[in-house]
Amino acid sequence: MDQSKYVTLLDLMVLAVCAFYIYLEELVTFLMPRPGKSLDGEIILITGTANGLGKEICKQLIKSKAKLVLWDISEDDNKRTAQDLRDSGAAFVYEDTVDVADRNQVIVAATKVRRHVGNVTILVNNAGIAVMQQFLELTTTSVDQTFRTNVLAHFWTLKEFLPYMLVRNAGHIVTICSTMGQMAMRGPTPYYSTKHAVHGMIECLKDELAHLEYKCEIKFTTVYPFPTITPFLDPSYVATRVIEGICGETEYLYIPETFRIYLAGKFFLPTKLHRLFVDFFVEHSHYSATFRRPCIRNEQPSDDLERTVDIQGKETKVDHVQNLFNSVTTEMIHTTPMER
Ligand SMILES: *[C@@H]1O[C@H](CO)[C@@H](O)[C@H](O)[C@H]1NC(C)=O
Repeated sequence: MDQSKYVTLLDLMVLAVCAFYIYLEELVTFLMPRPGKSLDGEIILITGTANGLGKEICKQLIKSKAKLVLWDISEDDNKRTAQDLRDSGAAFVYEDTVDVADRNQVIVAATKVRRHVGNVTILVNNAGIAVMQQFLELTTTSVDQTFRTNVLAHFWTLKEFLPYMLVRNAGHIVTICSTMGQMAMRGPTPYYSTKHAVHGMIECLKDELAHLEYKCEIKFTTVYPFPTITPFLDPSYVATRVIEGICGETEYLYIPETFRIYLAGKFFLPTKLHRLFVDFFVEHSHYSATFRRPCIRNEQPSDDLERTVDIQGKETKVDHVQNLFNSVTTEMIHTTPMER
């Protein structure tokens, strides 16, 4: 008989004691905050450093005496960031041109970092793109590109640097997500979707690492800023909070912190009321004007007879590949029982 299926009174008591202990611990940390960790001697890799938040984080890290590794796809702008940092007295700056969406480029660049700088101790996954298109306006290439840069890149960089952190059982993964990874409204749908994906990915990974055969000491900070596509949040303010979050090892960093109220409340609201609040917010905030107007539907359903697909580099009418689809389906049906 499988014992684990039954919850005994003792199990519940243990759970209650643990819950009490956790609250007590939280209270103590709240009353006596630990001093933040020093970043002296850390090797910090930041992606997307050519401009925006990534560049701002670098600028504010100069005082920390950490070694800074700057990755960006835009070579010239990234070199300029690196030079600015050196001119301002940064102790150590190493920059490289990397498209983090491309797994091979990440592998090559990561090897170079290990050779020339050392093992990355803090990884700041910041690079991201936002195409200002709502769902009905989407082009397919923008969906593809947004997911590759905003989601897959997190897998590729973590695959490169996490194993080394696991060997030392130390390190820090910082993920720039968005409040839109935990709420949803009209806006750049692919961008917001990637933020949900990244939030979920990090949550899964953390739980996996929490159940290794030893206690995993790798820290995680996920940052949820309100989208800076509006003049709502100043990147330099966000950068300051991110660095505080790294030093303080904050697990969930919401900017603004009041976003927690929304998270705590949203499941208790009737769905209609929730929508009403979101609409109220969109209408009365600095939320991008682009998304306050009605969406433009610029695509008509396509004429099936005219549609083409790319088959091995050749434009082929969908009608003409019907046989191909048929044979694939039959093959799948035939092979499935054998694999069981
Ligand atoms: C990086 O980590 C690996 C694995 O722990 C180790 O063998 C190597 O010596 C480290 N490199 C440096 C420069 O510390």
